[in-house]
Amino acid sequence: MEENSMLCSVATLLFFHSIITSCMATPSIKTDQLALLALKSSISHNPKNIILRNWSSSTPMCTWIGISCSSRHQRVTSLNISDMSLEGRIPSELGNLSFLSSLDLSNNSFYGTLPQELPNLHRLRLIDLSGNKLTGPLPSFFSSFHNLRSLRLSRNSFSGHIPSSIGNVSTLE
Ligand SMILES: *[C@@H]1O[C@H](CO)[C@@H](O)[C@H](O)[C@H]1NC(C)=O
Ligand SMILES: *[C@@H]1O[C@H](CO)[C@@H](O)[C@H](O)[C@H]1NC(C)=O
Ligand SMILES: *[C@@H]1O[C@H](CO)[C@@H](O)[C@H](O)[C@H]1NC(C)=O
Ligand SMILES: *[C@@H]1O[C@H](CO)[C@@H](O)[C@H](O)[C@H]1NC(C)=O
Ligand SMILES: *[C@@H]1O[C@H](CO)[C@@H](O)[C@H](O)[C@H]1NC(C)=O
Repeated sequence: MEENSMLCSVATLLFFHSIITSCMATPSIKTDQLALLALKSSISHNPKNIILRNWSSSTPMCTWIGISCSSRHQRVTSLNISDMSLEGRIPSELGNLSFLSSLDLSNNSFYGTLPQELPNLHRLRLIDLSGNKLTGPLPSFFSSFHNLRSLRLSRNSFSGHIPSSIGNVSTLE
């Protein structure tokens, strides 16, 4: 992170316009933070206000409750907000957490359909969405997860058939 911002400042000083542009276009910590803030604002019911109080822009994202980051790049690798009585939709911005390897939203009241952006998360090894109020068909995109080991979708209200693409996830345990 420090190396990146150093690079960007030096570039600014030297007016290397193309370098500045590429620094700004690269998905970054800011992208992860925006995704988490989108999740926070989509949560409509949060009894103890845990997320509302803890996920504050004035503190570093990697210290937020339920968040783990990679030590090297300080990108979000794990999101675990299970069993917090949270109610809301899963926003499409979640698909921007490109370093995410573990997603645990289990035992809450997340509702609505799964965002179509979810398969952007190629590094996901674990998805636990069990015990929510999710609806709609199971998306047919499971074969985009090349590293998926664990998938839990039980105790929801999904409809339709189980997509055959699930059979292509050879890493699934
Ligand atoms: C958020 O929670 C974490 C873990 O419990 C804690 O270390 C941190 O200080 C909290 N931050 C705020 C702003 O409450
Ligand atoms: C998420 O946190 C809960 C409560 O601390 C824990 O029981 C669960 O194992 C965690 N999930 C993952 C995937 O580590
Ligand atoms: C979620 O709920 C199930 C069923 O009540 C329970 O077995 C499981 O331990 C819970 N998981 C967490 C992380 O609280
Ligand atoms: C993140 O995702 C949303 C919706 O999928 C998108 O509009 C936005 O441009 C993405 N990028 C960033 C940097 O937040
Ligand atoms: C997934 O498996 C189906 C058969 O169930 C096959 O037709 C399809 O080509 C496979 N797709 C990929 C991306 O491997």
